[in-house]
Amino acid sequence: MIYDLLVTNIGQLLLPKRSPKPLKGKEMAHLPILKCAAMAVSDGRVAWIGSASEAVHVEAKLKIDAKQRVVSPGLVDPHTHLVFGGSRENELPLKQAGVPYLDILAGGGGILATVNSTRLASEEELINKASFHVERMVSHGVTAIEAKSGYGLERDTELKQLRVIKALNKKYPIHFVSTFLGPHAIPPGFRGKEHMFIKEMAVLLDEIRTENLADYADIFCETGVFTVEQSRRYLREAKTKGFGLKIHADEINPLGGTELAVELEAASADHLVAASDKGIRSLAESNTVAVLLPGTTFYLGKELYARGRYMIDSGAAVALATDFNPGSCVTENIQFIMSLAGLRLKMTPEEIWNAVTVNAAHAIGKGDEVGGLEIGSQADFVIWNIPNYQYLPYHFGVNHAAIVYCEGKRI
Ligand code: NIG
Ligand code: FE
Repeated sequence: MIYDLLVTNIGQLLLPKRSPKPLKGKEMAHLPILKCAAMAVSDGRVAWIGSASEAVHVEAKLKIDAKQRVVSPGLVDPHTHLVFGGSRENELPLKQAGVPYLDILAGGGGILATVNSTRLASEEELINKASFHVERMVSHGVTAIEAKSGYGLERDTELKQLRVIKALNKKYPIHFVSTFLGPHAIPPGFRGKEHMFIKEMAVLLDEIRTENLADYADIFCETGVFTVEQSRRYLREAKTKGFGLKIHADEINPLGGTELAVELEAASADHLVAASDKGIRSLAESNTVAVLLPGTTFYLGKELYARGRYMIDSGAAVALATDFNPGSCVTENIQFIMSLAGLRLKMTPEEIWNAVTVNAAHAIGKGDEVGGLEIGSQADFVIWNIPNYQYLPYHFGVNHAAIVYCEGKRI
C-alpha cells in the first residue's frame, strides 16, 4: 500500500476520538496521546497510525518530518460572528470611560452600529472581508468554523450574510456551519414591539430552510434584548422547522437562558458567565454543550469569567470558542482563548484541547465528522511549533501553528 502522505517523527500525536456524545465532566481530563508517532493519509482520511519506528517501512507519495513536534486534529471554532461590515474601534474610549456594553447598544451603537455598516456592504465586499478573517483563523489551526448572521435584523441583509457564509464554504476547503441569528438586537423602531420583530424573524426561518442557508437558529437572550419567554417561543418554532438550536445565554445577567437551552435540548448554550448553580446542574444532566467565550470577558474588561472549572467539576460538557466579532471580542486567534481558559477558567491542558476539538465539534452538530483523529476520520490536522501539548496555553498571544491540513491537503 502506498499512502498519499506520511507524517513521521511526531513528538506527541493527540488523538481525541470522535464520539456519539460530547465529553462531560471528568471525561474531559482524558486526552489520548501517542508519543514518537507517525500517521498516514489517503483519500483525505487518516489511513494508518503507528510508531515512528514502524513508519520506516511505510510507503507514501509524500513524507513529512514533524521534527518531534505536536500534531493535533484541526481545531473547531464553534461560535463566531464572522460576516460583518465596518469596525468599531471608536468604542474604545467609551469602554475606557466605563460605559457598559449594554448601554452602548441601548444608545444605538454596538451591534446596531455594525448593523448599519453590514446593511450598506455588498455581498462581494462582505465575502472579501470575511475571507481575510477566515484565512487568519485557518493560519491559527482552525479547520471548522461556525458563523452567524445577525447584523441585518431585516430579511435582505440577514439572507445576504447567510449567502456569504455559503460562498465561503465553497471558496475554502475547510468546514462551515451556518447559524441564523436574526434576533440579535432590537432594531430601531421595534422597541416595545419586540414580539412583532421576533415574528418577522420567525417567518424568515421558512425561507432560510427552503434555501438551505442555515443549520442552526440562535437568539441573544439578555436584559434589554430578548426575554427568556420570547427566546423560548422563537427557538421552539425554529426547532419545529428543523433547525438545531443555540442561544446567547446568561452573558451579563442570570436570566435562565442556560436552563432554557437544556429544556429545548439545544446543541449549545453560549457565554454563561452569569449562569446560576441551578443552570449548571441542569447542563450537567444534559448533552447541551457549554460554549465558553473567555476572550469576550477579557475584551469587555470584566473581572468575573464563566465558571469553567465549576462546570466541568459539576459534570457538564465544555467547549471553547473565539466569539470573533467587531465589538465584544475582536480576535481570530483561538490559541489566545486556550490560554485564557487555562489562566482564567482554570481548565487543564487536556480539558482545553478536548474543548477545542471533540466538544467544539459537538457544539456544532459535527461530533461524528470533525474534531477527532483516528483511522477513518477526516485528515484535518495541525503540526504545531510546540514541544508538548501543555505548552500551547502556557505561551500566550502568538501563533504556534506551523502547518495546517484539511482533508489531507495542506492549506
Ligand atoms: O456574542 N452578545 C451578543 N453578541 C455578540 C457581540 C456582537 C457585537 O458586539 O457586535 C457576542 O458577544
Ligand atoms: Fe456571540
